[in-house]
Amino acid sequence: MKREFSKNDFFTKKAKQENYPARSVYKLQDIDNKFKIFRKSDWVLDLGCAPGSWLLYIGNKVSITGKVVGVDVLDLNTQPLNNTLFIKKNVLDEDLLESGPLGSASFNVVVSDMAPNTTGLLEVDVANCLELTNRALEIAKKVLTENGNFVCKVFEGLGTDAFVKEAKKYFQMVKKYRPQAVRRGSKEIYLIAKGFKNIKIL
Ligand SMILES: C[S@@+](CC[C@H](N)C(=O)[O-])C[C@H]1O[C@@H](n2cnc3c(N)ncnc32)[C@H](O)[C@@H]1O
Repeated sequence: MKREFSKNDFFTKKAKQENYPARSVYKLQDIDNKFKIFRKSDWVLDLGCAPGSWLLYIGNKVSITGKVVGVDVLDLNTQPLNNTLFIKKNVLDEDLLESGPLGSASFNVVVSDMAPNTTGLLEVDVANCLELTNRALEIAKKVLTENGNFVCKVFEGLGTDAFVKEAKKYFQMVKKYRPQAVRRGSKEIYLIAKGFKNIKIL
């Protein structure tokens, strides 16, 4: 999964000008403009939040009456807003929900921009990514309030259709979307799921 990175591309420059630590903020902005993901006062969980551009965007959207919790194994590269809590933790850790820092919190929206370190071997990268996306869906199912929304990065490839099919069981609307800021040649797309049904499927 080799990608071309240009320090001078449009979104990189824009992020620098607007004081975001990563250009990925424009992927979320595009998704939010199109699908209306966040509302004022929402509680939002951001999985894989470092360096922190989504945290800043969401923190501003939900305003002072909302709350944002971000989780990442890496440190942030920005000062989070006052309505934002950062937890340094591996999302795959079993105790994240059970006895961990999230405790019994519930959220109106869960977003995941998590990506594994790429190996260059497509099948390995897709499998690693699917482990993260499956975990994100598992967490979303546990913490989302009824009618909540879920946005999750996936890499197109083996297993993506099954993931979309699984998500469709739990949400009223599920779509795949490729924001404009995704780099050319990248396999990255986003699953947009709205209207969590909060049902138990055995
Ligand atoms: C593309 S970056 C996210 C960028 C972020 N949305 C932003 O706008 O600043 C992906 C992040 O996922 C994190 N990540 C990958 N695997 C993780 C895991 N198992 N637990 C927590 N974070 C993870 C990485 O450390 C990395 O910071």
